Amino acid sequence: MVSAAGARRALAAGLPDFPWDRLEPAKAAAARHPDGIVDLSIGTPVDPVPDVIRAALAEASNAPGYPLTAGTVRLREAIRDWVDRWCAPGSAAFGVLPTIGSKELVAWLPTLLGIGPGDTVVIPSVCYPTYEVGVQLAGAEVVRADSLTALGPARVRMIWINSPSNPTGRVLPPAHLRKVVEWARERGAIVVSDECYLTLPWEASPVSILSVCDGVFDNVLAVHSLSKRSNLAGYRAGYISGDPALVDELLAVRKHAGMIVPGPVQAAMIAALGDETHADEQRERYARRRVLLREAFLRAGFSIEHSEAGLYLWVTRGEDSWATVDWLAERGILTAPGAFYGPAGERHVRVGLTATDERVAAAAARF
Ligand SMILES: Cc1ncc(COP(=O)(O)O)c(C=O)c1O
Repeated sequence: MVSAAGARRALAAGLPDFPWDRLEPAKAAAARHPDGIVDLSIGTPVDPVPDVIRAALAEASNAPGYPLTAGTVRLREAIRDWVDRWCAPGSAAFGVLPTIGSKELVAWLPTLLGIGPGDTVVIPSVCYPTYEVGVQLAGAEVVRADSLTALGPARVRMIWINSPSNPTGRVLPPAHLRKVVEWARERGAIVVSDECYLTLPWEASPVSILSVCDGVFDNVLAVHSLSKRSNLAGYRAGYISGDPALVDELLAVRKHAGMIVPGPVQAAMIAALGDETHADEQRERYARRRVLLREAFLRAGFSIEHSEAGLYLWVTRGEDSWATVDWLAERGILTAPGAFYGPAGERHVRVGLTATDERVAAAAARF
């Protein structure tokens, strides 16, 4: 007989260890620096939630009834307008759906779309760990690949791409996106493009996968988040857009599963999506921090690879990523080892731009 607790442990046991615990010794070492730790390891926003968004949340706080899984009419319109402006100008044929941040969606998307044992999901060779977790929760097989030609005869049901990438900051050009869409359609697979850093371009201009679809979104989904654009990681606010049939299917399942964005957060999302001023200001903050950190890491002899867009610098000293983490920790700077993001990342570390101006200046002064 399998006990209920045993069955629960079996699901958790199939998932990777939560890697951040392994960073604790480096964190303790960095904290011993006389001028204090500069934590550049986790990409969590540190700047305030813009007033316009906080006001909308407060205004909507008397929310006794159940919210709609599909989002209010006004929220759906706000998402549509944003997607139209940033991703698919002039086309109305896409579906939209709010999500409770994008991490839950990433973790449950394969399951929600009926992917399971015997199916294969392709994820980037170095990537956000939750793609793999989602495939494991669904009981499917994961393959890490950046090139379609590297894929064998496996029954691929879904392909994740992420541009600008976490952790590398790599941007996929439109021609690459087009090829992935064609490849997937020929095989009946779904392409899911995680674009949560789309609005942070530096030396390259990332484009949405929806922009290469010529108004026909079959088999294509784009994932967006307000966590970084609007400092809303604490609100849990994201959305998905693309193939209307797939979005309808997701809505149907999510309704049953209670995956509902809280009403006050829906109101806050409307305010956030309708205001580009705060997003421009936040982008400027990250741009300034990026320049300081970039110069400092180059001065210290690091190579910086990709990092053309997004919230991170992908740096290397040509050694094992844990050795670099320790070297930086001795200088009071905490970073994330590239090994967290896949075996191909084990000679790099990820440097987040999400620290205050004061802490970023402190880090830059240590080289
Ligand atoms: C590539 C990528 N996708 C999705 C997420 C999830 O973000 P959130 O759940 O805050 O929307 C993150 C968070 O860091 C990320 O880096």
